[in-house]
Amino acid sequence: MRIGSLPRVRLADLPTPLEEAPRLGERLGLRRLFVKRDDNTGLAMGGNKARKLEFVMAEAVRQGCDTVITTGGLQSNHARMTAAAAVRLGMRPVLVLDGGKPGRYPGNLLLDKVLGAEFEFVPKGSDVDLEMAKVASRLKAGGAKPFVIPLGGSTPLGAVGYVNAALEMAGQLVDMGMKIDHVFLAAGSGGTMAGLLLGLKAFVPGTKVWGISVGKGSGRLREVVAGLGTEAASLVGLPLVVEPADVLIDDSYVGDGYGIPTPECVEAIRLAAATDGLILDPVYTGKAMAGLIGHLRDGLIRPDENVVFVHTGGAPGLFAYEEWF
Ligand SMILES: Cc1ncc(COP(=O)(O)O)c(C=O)c1O
Repeated sequence: MRIGSLPRVRLADLPTPLEEAPRLGERLGLRRLFVKRDDNTGLAMGGNKARKLEFVMAEAVRQGCDTVITTGGLQSNHARMTAAAAVRLGMRPVLVLDGGKPGRYPGNLLLDKVLGAEFEFVPKGSDVDLEMAKVASRLKAGGAKPFVIPLGGSTPLGAVGYVNAALEMAGQLVDMGMKIDHVFLAAGSGGTMAGLLLGLKAFVPGTKVWGISVGKGSGRLREVVAGLGTEAASLVGLPLVVEPADVLIDDSYVGDGYGIPTPECVEAIRLAAATDGLILDPVYTGKAMAGLIGHLRDGLIRPDENVVFVHTGGAPGLFAYEEWF
């Protein structure tokens, strides 16, 4: 594997802990539940994007860019972490946020502001790629050298960050003398799952990786994850293909849509906090935990199997959802 030879900038505190959540595991009736603490990656309050950005931002540096443009919803963790990565590398962060100009700036929006990001608010449901391209040409005309990162940083290079996470986890499992059966994580734009699935297929074969969708339908997301995984494989030199049939996506925990909590999600957030002091979020990890709980209830995982929940971060978003708690 050539992961070590790909350009990379260090942005994340790695390795993140792989720790047991004994009280939550017990409450769920699981013999052993572990949490991969990617909420602790350190970049401007942490989360999964730090790993992706190590590889994606290296490309911006290589191209000599001075400005980074990315997109997301108003409470995008990806936008917040990209803004932080940009300023750390001496670049100007510009965020094209889908949702219209807000009246208030809670949660991630506040952190974006503090980080000095420039905002371009576009009406909800806009073609954000087109909007980013417009902003890029305007900035270019003004003499800037912009680098555009698509939604969620979910490019093949971004997914490589999670191949690296799988490698890290494989080493931790060996050190702990542990075998795992299932991995659960939230799937949004799909890059995290793509890299992790590919990496676990290579380094911890036999592990079932379950992506709990937070927005997209399972059919579309399966294709996206398979495509990104296969492209990431060729970037890192792994002789593997990720087929859509390898990708286990469950979209039945989305509820009314992206960013709208469900009662199960709120309950999962309360439970994780009240047992092991884990702070989940209402957009991603709360729904992923609700998915894990639902899979146990539905007999898709057995109580005597070992499960890893990937905590991908997102807690800053919780501060924008006060009325749900
Ligand atoms: C906290 C959190 N978890 C999970 C995800 C999903 O990752 P991906 O977009 O790579 O599927 C995101 C993406 O924005 C996120 O912010």
